[in-house]
Amino acid sequence: MILVTGGAGFIGSNFILDWIAATGEPVVNLDKLTYAGNLESLASLKDDARHLFVRGDVNDRELVAKLLAGHKPRAIIHFAAESHVDRSISGPDEFIQTNINGTFSLLEATRAYWQELGGVEKDAFRFLHVSTDEVYGSLGPGDPPFSETTAYAPNSPYSASKAASDHLVRAYHHTYGLPMLTTNCSNNYGAFQFPEKLIPLVLLNALNGKPLPIYGNGLNVRDWLYVGDHCAAIREVLAGGRLGETYNIGGWNEKTNLDVVNTVCAILDEMKPAANGKPYASLITYVKDRPGHDARYAINARKIERELGWKPKETFETGIRKTVAWYLDNMGWVEHVVSGEYQAWVGRHYG
Ligand code: NAD
Ligand code: DAU
Repeated sequence: MILVTGGAGFIGSNFILDWIAATGEPVVNLDKLTYAGNLESLASLKDDARHLFVRGDVNDRELVAKLLAGHKPRAIIHFAAESHVDRSISGPDEFIQTNINGTFSLLEATRAYWQELGGVEKDAFRFLHVSTDEVYGSLGPGDPPFSETTAYAPNSPYSASKAASDHLVRAYHHTYGLPMLTTNCSNNYGAFQFPEKLIPLVLLNALNGKPLPIYGNGLNVRDWLYVGDHCAAIREVLAGGRLGETYNIGGWNEKTNLDVVNTVCAILDEMKPAANGKPYASLITYVKDRPGHDARYAINARKIERELGWKPKETFETGIRKTVAWYLDNMGWVEHVVSGEYQAWVGRHYG
């Protein structure tokens, strides 16, 4: 079996569903259930013995040690993190606690566990750390995309905390020989994404006739990766990645934020036209920019393609249609995650 941290979040829950469907191998899911964690995303596994949920903090070294000793996982996939850049700007503490200290605690517990394993189990063990392209900083319009050798230059408290965790992972491989793999991926989108992030936020605001907030001039560029493609990439890196290496994962889909929002609006116009007959894009509203807003992210994902044969299956056009359709079909999930805490964040952040 494998241990997944942060498996009730957006990517973690997609990963567990994908993993069990693809491999049938059991998963222990350790998640603190912050505002971003939601067990409803895993409702289809409710009576499935292959998914064991444990509520807890990755900082709780005793709990992690107990889980490792009790379940003897052959691998750990570490998703747990505070993940929203805007929240890291208004309150960085939790980002330091979970992303840096939490990763450190998990590494210490893993080191103690791994050192006690016998020959074959020790050789087969893997720790896969899920990180972000934001650690590389911001690109200019003509710069080549981030590769695995691009120097780190994180610009937000979030990306700085992820960069610190990547460095710890690297050091544990070099110093202790822990069998580490790191992945740095671009902006994910798809089912079960919490509506603080651009795509689900815009989608839900549009359906509710609310303004669609575009930071600055809307020309910042992100690379968009369909979450199902990301899950498949993680499986490939876990199975065949070279120890101590990092793999960039991207969708080859660079888009400005305005392009993304206009695309979501156009699909909604087609799938669920507004009652007042107006195009949803008429709700676009330019708001104050994010402080330190990175201009452009782009990923060179040739290494994972060359070494492991992984390429994304979805284009942005196919993935975004699936995503919009999923939200329209799952408004019950949305209503449940849009809690008091979510309302408070929207009130504080957007006024
Ligand atoms: P998310 O915010 O949706 O989910 C994070 C999960 O971690 C939640 O279930 C939360 O309850 C859990 N968690 C938080 N603190 C914890 C703690 N101390 N102990 C245990 N569990 C804790 O995040 P996501 O978008 O699914 O991202 C998952 C990982 O992928 C993160 O490490 C993030 O940095 C990375 N990443 C995300 C994206 C993206 O576009 N979403 C892109 C690149 C990398
Ligand atoms: O690049 C990978 C990263 O992608 C991950 O590491 C992060 O966990 C994830 O949150 C995401 O970070 P971004 O900051 O790029 O994602 P977000 O959805 O917050 O914003 C996407 C772009 O849209 C960004 O340029 C800011 C802009 N934006 C966002 C929001 C929430 C707006 O214009 N308006 C908004 O209301």
